[in-house]
Amino acid sequence: MVLVATTSCKPDDKDKPKNEPFAFTVPDGFPRPVYSFQGNDLTEKRFELGKMLFYDPILSRDSTIACAHCHKQFAAFADFEHVVSHGIDEKLGVRNSPGLFNLAWRPFLFWDGGVHHLEMFSVAPIENPVEMDEKLANVLQKLRRGTRYPALFREAWGDDSISSSQFLKSLAQFMAMMVSANSKYDRYKAGKETFTDEESEGMALFERHCASCHPAPLFTDNQFHNNGLDTVFKDKGRALITLLTEDEGKFLTPSLRNAALTPPYMHDGRFWTLEDVLRHYALGVKPSHTLDPRLQGGVPLSDDEQRKIIAFIRTLSDNAFTTERKFRDPF
Ligand code: HEC
Ligand code: HEC
Repeated sequence: MVLVATTSCKPDDKDKPKNEPFAFTVPDGFPRPVYSFQGNDLTEKRFELGKMLFYDPILSRDSTIACAHCHKQFAAFADFEHVVSHGIDEKLGVRNSPGLFNLAWRPFLFWDGGVHHLEMFSVAPIENPVEMDEKLANVLQKLRRGTRYPALFREAWGDDSISSSQFLKSLAQFMAMMVSANSKYDRYKAGKETFTDEESEGMALFERHCASCHPAPLFTDNQFHNNGLDTVFKDKGRALITLLTEDEGKFLTPSLRNAALTPPYMHDGRFWTLEDVLRHYALGVKPSHTLDPRLQGGVPLSDDEQRKIIAFIRTLSDNAFTTERKFRDPF
């Protein structure tokens, strides 16, 4: 299903990636996206502009930190080096940088779901004192004064006012286009590849024990749960937004697509390996007043079963996405 296509080119001209049709395509089996590009018509120029902004440290106060500093393509746009984010002046955030992909299907962003709309998103990291510590108005001033951006905004938007709306919409186009749906699992589903016995058994175990919160095809239910990490909550999670006691310690279920590429894990990056994660579900689930009832007492999984589930999770890695030329650093 092609949802938006504004630049039509010859689709069969495989040798020339530049000529690929520029469209937002909903992969087979995916639901209709939440972000619809309404009021933000997709064009290649806007997407390219959004990409440049994403990779440009000019968005931070001292021009040292780009979005890409914490969201690296080879790690599916997560930050695999750090437990919690490292931003400006080496300041530490409190949460782990998640991978960025399939954002167009997300009704909530952030571990606590504090942001709803992709177009509103970029203000948060820019103005966060431990991330980029800049004011959006100031970023726009810097872009207007520089030599690079006025022409790019004019080409993309028809004028070079460099408004906050043009800025945020360009970034939203880049982020919405980051679709990841070309893993071994997807090729297996399409009948183009086979699973090993271990992967098949892992998938069956996954469906039994994990898929209620991490359901295909997005591998997240987009809901908030407490998966038993703590008894006392240092980070109250969803409750910081809703102010409800019943939401304490609940976090947005992360997608498990590309999970093998995005360590460390959980909102605070406490686990470095998938083995640690599976050991948590099998043996480490901690009781608390908001623990999800499905995880009460832990998930009964032998070492062998844990290994098989990990083999299945590894089939969700999309190396085409992490090497895709159209998302690469343009500088
Ligand atoms: C200093 C590191 C850092 C920088 C710089 C940064 N981010 Fe992030 N990003 C994070 C962290 C940490 C989170 C998770 C925060 C949370 O959930 O509370 C996050 C979350 C996100 C999310 C939500 C993902 C999800 O699954 O909910 C998006 C989208 C995103 N960042 C895009 C951007 C964009 C665009 C920029 C630049 C304007 C940017 N980030 C700059 C660290 C960073
Ligand atoms: C009750 C819902 C629920 C069930 C069942 C569940 N999870 Fe999770 N999972 C979550 C939530 C919520 C998080 C994020 C928790 C946090 O960071 O505080 C999470 C996080 C993860 C992460 C870390 C991903 C990342 O990017 O940081 C992995 C891996 C994972 N789960 C795998 C599994 C596996 C494997 C199973 C089955 C054995 C499973 N989950 C069962 C809700 C669930």
